[in-house]
Amino acid sequence: MKIIEPSLLSINKEKALEQINQIRDFGLKLVHYDVMDGKFVPPTALKTEYLKDLELAGIKPNIHLMVSKPDEWIELYKNYKVNSITFHAESQSVEECKRLLAKIKSLGFLAGFAVKPHTDLNQYKELFALTDIILIMSVEPGWGGQGFIPDSLKNLEIANQAKQQHNNIIIEIDGGINFNYIKKLYNQIDWFVTGSWFFKNIDRMGQYLSEFKNLK
Ligand code: DX5
Ligand code: ZN
Repeated sequence: MKIIEPSLLSINKEKALEQINQIRDFGLKLVHYDVMDGKFVPPTALKTEYLKDLELAGIKPNIHLMVSKPDEWIELYKNYKVNSITFHAESQSVEECKRLLAKIKSLGFLAGFAVKPHTDLNQYKELFALTDIILIMSVEPGWGGQGFIPDSLKNLEIANQAKQQHNNIIIEIDGGINFNYIKKLYNQIDWFVTGSWFFKNIDRMGQYLSEFKNLK
């Protein structure tokens, strides 16, 4: 199913609860939840903030771990109602990636791996049969509000080839996404993460979402 997934990195901290309720009222069931450790990427971001509020609103997070040691973070989420956890493939060996995917699945969550815009996704072919999600980064991880990097379209093409063989892979894109990219890339992507565009336009989102439902 195609979805728009608001990235809580861009939520207005003063109005967080109000905006979470707006997301709920739009009927959205999933949000994107960026975790940063200040090592894999320079900034730090969310850890467990808002998770209880999301639970109360009936919204599940897709956790995007931008951390250098994902293994040390996964269990932090085991008692929350989480939809998926995705880690960066670049953080460890392919063998270790396999183990992490299995560990996330054993917690009952969907499991995925992410690649940065200039990482060649072909290096991770062995993971295609094991993963639920491939997260294509279309900006360098670390910050919201950056411009879409066209080079990431190469990885998008590889992910779509993988999907031809492994039908149930979810393709998620993250970084610089606005409604123009959603329309342009609609057929190649399942989950569209959007941070700055979504929250800048949250008051007009009802209109955008009804347009989104009619896209083909
Ligand atoms: C960037 C994060 C993104 C970010 C996207 O490192 O992984 O999820 O919130 O924000 P926008 O949509 O503003 O590029
Ligand atoms: Zn993200």
